[in-house]
Amino acid sequence: MGKTYVISRPVRKELKEAEKKIYQLLDGAPIKIRESVSETLKAGGKRLRTVLVLLSAMAGDYTRGAALDAANAVELVHLASLIHDDILDEADNRRGRPTINYSHGYKLATAAGDYLFGLAFQLLTDYHDNRVIAPLSQAAMELSLGEIMERNFSCRYNQSQDDYFTRINYKTASLFKAACQIGGIIGAVTDNQRLLLADYGYSLGMAFQIYDDILDINGDEDTLGKPVGNDLREGIMTLPMLLARKNDSDGLLKSALVNSDGNTIKAAIAFMIESGAVTQAKSVARNYLDTALSSVAAMDNNRVKSELLSIGEFVINRYS
Ligand code: IPE
Ligand code: IPE
Ligand code: MG
Ligand code: MG
Repeated sequence: MGKTYVISRPVRKELKEAEKKIYQLLDGAPIKIRESVSETLKAGGKRLRTVLVLLSAMAGDYTRGAALDAANAVELVHLASLIHDDILDEADNRRGRPTINYSHGYKLATAAGDYLFGLAFQLLTDYHDNRVIAPLSQAAMELSLGEIMERNFSCRYNQSQDDYFTRINYKTASLFKAACQIGGIIGAVTDNQRLLLADYGYSLGMAFQIYDDILDINGDEDTLGKPVGNDLREGIMTLPMLLARKNDSDGLLKSALVNSDGNTIKAAIAFMIESGAVTQAKSVARNYLDTALSSVAAMDNNRVKSELLSIGEFVINRYS
């Protein structure tokens, strides 16, 4: 897998602790779920959402037990959504390893994702604070809405950029935003700081998903640990394709959207790169990132600020 972001020693220590706890939590799961989910956890993952919760909590008064549980709850919702996403995408690889659906079958993968959603919310029940639970339940519902929208819009050549932005807000930015909001609540930051964290999370998530979509076009499968070209094969229009559409007078993109043979996909990918659409999409991602960074700039805690800034740069520069 590719390079990761650099975090300071105190955050690394908390991340390690969160990691230890997540395996302990899985000890109570049925054996097949425990084994298959542990494989996915051990295979890697950037733990970006965990770190966002931890850092947002550190922006105020850091309370360890609550921060670790909340960070793990958000990571578990993410993991559950990935397991279910791989079922929907019929993906064979995730984090450089066979997906749960591939090695253990669709039934176990469905059950494992469901179990993790339940486990995530169970973790938050100790805190009796609806302000912690509400953003996560909202994000979990939006993840599902995002997936539904993606299916509804699949193979539809005529759709707007707004359709795309709504979709990626639901499927990705909402959980990034929730991670930052929840961390801020646990750290008891002021309302103003919490809003800045939420804005940062949202814009970072948007930039992150646009970049993820770019990497599906120009990324390297071994580095990413997941297949590339999958969006087009699945008939999913992402930003580079929406931007390249105005030059598609020969109808290459239009036919690639519904025709998943290798050569058509390859030609469409080359077209999106050569037409400048990938570069334009990078600049849209950069704009979202700049918005995220301007929210961070207005925050109080300098140590947290500098780490949130470097996560932002990582999102845009990873694997490039
Ligand atoms: C993958 O998220 C799903 C998207 C929102 C694109 P990540 O790229 O953060 O996945 P891991 O956790 O690092 O594997
Ligand atoms: C993100 O969608 C999936 C979730 C938010 C669950 P993608 O389908 O783009 O993610 P990858 O590319 O499989 O990681
Ligand atoms: Mg997928
Ligand atoms: Mg998907």
